[in-house]
Amino acid sequence: MKTVGLIGWRGMVGSVLMQRMSEERDFDVIRPVFFSTSQHGQAAPSVGGQSTGTLQDASDIEALKALDIIITCQGGDYTSDIYPKLRAAGWQGYWIDAASTLRMADDAIIILDPVNHQVIRDGLERGVKTFVGGNCTVSLMLMSLGGLFANNLVEWASVATYQAASGGGARHMRELLTQMGMLHDNVAKELQNPASAILDIERKVTEMGRSGVLPTDNFGVPLAGSLIPWIDKPLENGQTREEWKGQAETNKILRTSHTIPVDGLCVRVGALRCHSQAFTLKLKKDLPLAEIERLLGDHNPWVKVVPNDRDITLRELTPAAVTGTLNTPVGRLRKLNMGPEYLSAFTVGDQLLWGAAEPLRRMLRLLVN
Ligand code: HSE
Repeated sequence: MKTVGLIGWRGMVGSVLMQRMSEERDFDVIRPVFFSTSQHGQAAPSVGGQSTGTLQDASDIEALKALDIIITCQGGDYTSDIYPKLRAAGWQGYWIDAASTLRMADDAIIILDPVNHQVIRDGLERGVKTFVGGNCTVSLMLMSLGGLFANNLVEWASVATYQAASGGGARHMRELLTQMGMLHDNVAKELQNPASAILDIERKVTEMGRSGVLPTDNFGVPLAGSLIPWIDKPLENGQTREEWKGQAETNKILRTSHTIPVDGLCVRVGALRCHSQAFTLKLKKDLPLAEIERLLGDHNPWVKVVPNDRDITLRELTPAAVTGTLNTPVGRLRKLNMGPEYLSAFTVGDQLLWGAAEPLRRMLRLLVN
């Protein structure tokens, strides 16, 4: 049995990973060792009713060197600090990481096995030892639209994202909910009175949003009742870093020989943990819509084509419907006025599952099965 170190298992992504590993009985096929950056020596969690001893020190290179595999959700600073030291100390084990730090490194593979299983297999054969989960919007796009990319049908993709608060982190989710609660409390009395004027209610909400009383330490501005058309740092070309990742990571995941252009605008909205994305796709040829739907639906077990019908769309293609599931539905499929090769598509996916934790545990399975 392989000895697997788990680091950052208590954070938001780490907690989802632990839950998924329990559900899929991953702990039955590994010897887990739990690490902590601050509480080593304390009791480690039990898995499957079994105690796992005490928490080890996540900065102890000698302890880490004893592991066959490390899975970390501890974040980029930890990776930047520890990974080079561990490799320099001669560690030859497999490093599976949720952070973006190593994603674009030449000797690292971005893991999304329903989409790039062969790229991962080839990498393992070549001796690649570093595997990194992709950016959540990129992974979720490829889970939903994989059938078009796999059949080399995409000339380019333009996207507008609707990204949930969880993408920023746990504190961002709390901040959004606190903002929502404060805005509601401010007008609760008026809302109960059907005779109150809606524009008076709206004005009170807007004034409160602008007044500076809402907590905004994490988002910088109110997100409740609003949106933020900017995610991550600016780059010199006018893109945000989140927007830059779309093309860079998509092409790396797919190992394309010619770059497929992917670009658009990344926007934070008041959803909790599902990222949605609206696409304009230029296809390489004019395929019948039924054929497009078949290719999309056949790509993997989690994608579901949602018919372009109002009631089904409202029921199945929203963050509220998809949150907490591994489903990655795609809908609003239709040919656009621009011409028969132009397709619209809308996708939804849980940012913490396929967007973060799930590819990591599936990589572990590829190593231990
Ligand atoms: N960067 C993403 C976001 C989350 O801010 O929504 C993780 O990939």
